[in-house]
Amino acid sequence: MRIIETISEMQSAAEEIRLCRKTIGVVPTMGYLHEGHISLIKTVRENADIVIVTIFVNPTQFAPHEDFSLYPRDINRDTQLAESAEVDILFIPSSIEMYSSDFLTKVNIEHLSAKLEGKSRPGHFQGVTTIVAKLFNITKPHVAIFGQKDAQQVIVIKRMVQDLNFDIKIIVVPTMREPDGLAMSSRNTYLTPAERSESPVIFASLREAEYLIKNGLKNCLTIKENMSKLILDKKSASIDYISIADPITLDEYGTIEQGQPVLISLAVRFGKTRLIDNILINI
Ligand code: PAF
Repeated sequence: MRIIETISEMQSAAEEIRLCRKTIGVVPTMGYLHEGHISLIKTVRENADIVIVTIFVNPTQFAPHEDFSLYPRDINRDTQLAESAEVDILFIPSSIEMYSSDFLTKVNIEHLSAKLEGKSRPGHFQGVTTIVAKLFNITKPHVAIFGQKDAQQVIVIKRMVQDLNFDIKIIVVPTMREPDGLAMSSRNTYLTPAERSESPVIFASLREAEYLIKNGLKNCLTIKENMSKLILDKKSASIDYISIADPITLDEYGTIEQGQPVLISLAVRFGKTRLIDNILINI
């Protein structure tokens, strides 16, 4: 596995790969790799000749009060995991490399970025789309892979690709879960044992909503009340938001009509740790 730290070396390597008529697949990550990332790497391997994984904890997608400095990092462990997953190139730039002191450009996807996560984390998606656009220009992929766990991130990135004409295929991989249903995330490591034992309620509430909808309940307020009741039964849990929305526009539904695709997503805090999850339902 080749490790690259500079933009110029990464761009030259990508250019050479393209000249050899090989396809490039990229998995953008913030590191602290887990099984969820490994499943993204496996999928990209099935869809491209050369696999690039990027590791960069992107400061611009964290608000000042968020967990940027605490975000878990272990580059040695990540390097070993990437090597065993047969990654071809690991791109690990520094912050100075990615954001020069005179950096001025921001990529903003209007409306979509301001909803759900964007309401709770203003500026978050502008940070995400700016860094992902840069990573696309640096790694020159034919294919890029993202996890369904970050449903809104996928929606926003797909829109950026469409609007800015990036010639890149976006593949979305289903959420990987722990045996008790908790969605895999690097942030799960923040949970205390008591919070960890209560956290599977997030997925349980999504399953409950799915059950209610599939059994004919249409009123979104009632569905959200049922989910809230389950979640707030747990001592360490508090709800940031629950959304039942159109999976393309993210417009909230009041009632669910037959045949409508539905994205149910939520953010819940367990103590100081904020976790997100979602399910997509096609009735
Ligand atoms: O999903 C993530 O890990 C990050 O938001 C991403 C896409 C790597 C951008 O920093």
